Amino acid sequence: MTTEAGAPVADNQNSQTAGAGGPVLVQDQHLLEKLAHFNRERIPERIVHARGAGAYGKFTVTADVTKYTRAKFLSEIGKETEVFLRFSTVAGNLGAADAVRDPRGFALKFYTEEGNYDLVGNNTPVFFIKDAIKFPDFIHTQKRDPYTGSQEPDNVFDFWGLSPESTHQVTWLFGDRGIPASYRHMDGFGSHTFQWTNEAGEVFWVKYHFKTDQGIKNLTAQEAEVLAGKDPDSHQRDLREAIERGEYPTWTAYVQIMPAAEAANYRFNPFDLTKVWPHEDYPMIEFGKLELNRNPRNIFAEVEQSIFSPHHFVPGIGPSPDKMLQGRLFAYGDAHRYRVGINADLLPVNEPKATKARSYGRDGVMYDGRHGGAKNYEPNSFGAPTETGRALWQPLPVSGTTEERPAPSHAEDDDFVQAGNLYRLMSEDEKARLIDNLANAIAGVSRDDIAQRAIENFRKADPDYGKRLEAAVQALRG
Ligand code: HEM
Repeated sequence: MTTEAGAPVADNQNSQTAGAGGPVLVQDQHLLEKLAHFNRERIPERIVHARGAGAYGKFTVTADVTKYTRAKFLSEIGKETEVFLRFSTVAGNLGAADAVRDPRGFALKFYTEEGNYDLVGNNTPVFFIKDAIKFPDFIHTQKRDPYTGSQEPDNVFDFWGLSPESTHQVTWLFGDRGIPASYRHMDGFGSHTFQWTNEAGEVFWVKYHFKTDQGIKNLTAQEAEVLAGKDPDSHQRDLREAIERGEYPTWTAYVQIMPAAEAANYRFNPFDLTKVWPHEDYPMIEFGKLELNRNPRNIFAEVEQSIFSPHHFVPGIGPSPDKMLQGRLFAYGDAHRYRVGINADLLPVNEPKATKARSYGRDGVMYDGRHGGAKNYEPNSFGAPTETGRALWQPLPVSGTTEERPAPSHAEDDDFVQAGNLYRLMSEDEKARLIDNLANAIAGVSRDDIAQRAIENFRKADPDYGKRLEAAVQALRG
């Protein structure tokens, strides 16, 4: 055993004192170093998705998609790319229980030969809001109230009631899939619409789906309550132990593809994150297989310090004008610089594995000197890396003036139709559980006007949905 500086440690059990039983001496550098290091073991937890688990694996291409994207890692059937996937819950803090009603994060890093491509998605195909400017307010309602220090049903349903665009996602969340039995037994979605662009520069709008090959398995509210109490780490443990047993979880990857010219006149705004694209409009095209087969060796280094950003694109893949996605393109890099530091990209889990980063970013806290004496400016006359002159994705045509308004409307833009469709698609049993879950949550709201406004949104989705919910809430509130 040595000190951090490598000198032998004589005694790791007894502090050095002035005489037997006397006061402790400042000259005991080993003691000071040990206490000081311990005080600095934590970094800020993620502001959302703090609680999570990760694993490495591979992505294998199973279909030819080269007419849609020029991304090299998708260029050949059979091609394999190493990946790291971090699953998470959204609202809970780092030590929260896994078995709770909450969306699950599905953050997938492809270590491609053209740089890391991050798909930072969820297990839900839609989201609660459609403009990034509402995200901090929304998350404040999911986190702890400034006065009570707890999550408050008043805040949660006040915000949802006042944000009718949340009705679809809330219906999803309080349905059976709102509490997955494990990370292995749920799907993953890119959720947003992204751009794929092929070698000829043609643009396609795409949505990603990762369907679990383990089958969907969920917990009822009652089962989850028991499991969360008995084993707060249930999802994390399940993933690690399955991989240790050699039962590698897999997902089949699909993509929905919309030719760019169809976006303007599609029946609803195709960049609206509160909507799914019906499969009859854009069928699911299978294109890959995802397998997780290796556990991280050190959770802090590889999971806590991992960084995923929706702005980590590679040639042939880019953003859409989805206003949520646009906000996210800023938010994640900013979070990483605050949470992990300016050199977060140099950590083994975050750096490219199938290529080398050749940026001119230098120095800063914990810089490891990897660039040696290479020139740190560009352009230069020393043959150091230069720009390619080719954009990763195709430019978007824009027109009009700067403004703060909702996106231009399409014929079927509506906050309730898809929520109603989801409700009507459910079996009678599923509907009963949805009503029960929602009613129990709304019954915790202290103000009638807030509860009533929330219920009205569900009534607009489907009159039967609203009627049953209102009756169930009334029965619970007496
Ligand atoms: C994590 C912001 C919407 C999925 C985060 C983090 C921030 C953030 C700041 C923490 C990042 C870190 O510390 O490393 C936002 C903003 C959003 C938004 C501003 C809306 C404009 C979404 C949506 C999805 C999503 C729509 C899914 C479709 C995730 C996931 C993580 C995450 C999976 C965890 C990533 C990880 O495992 O490290 N988000 N988010 N977020 N977000 Fe979002």
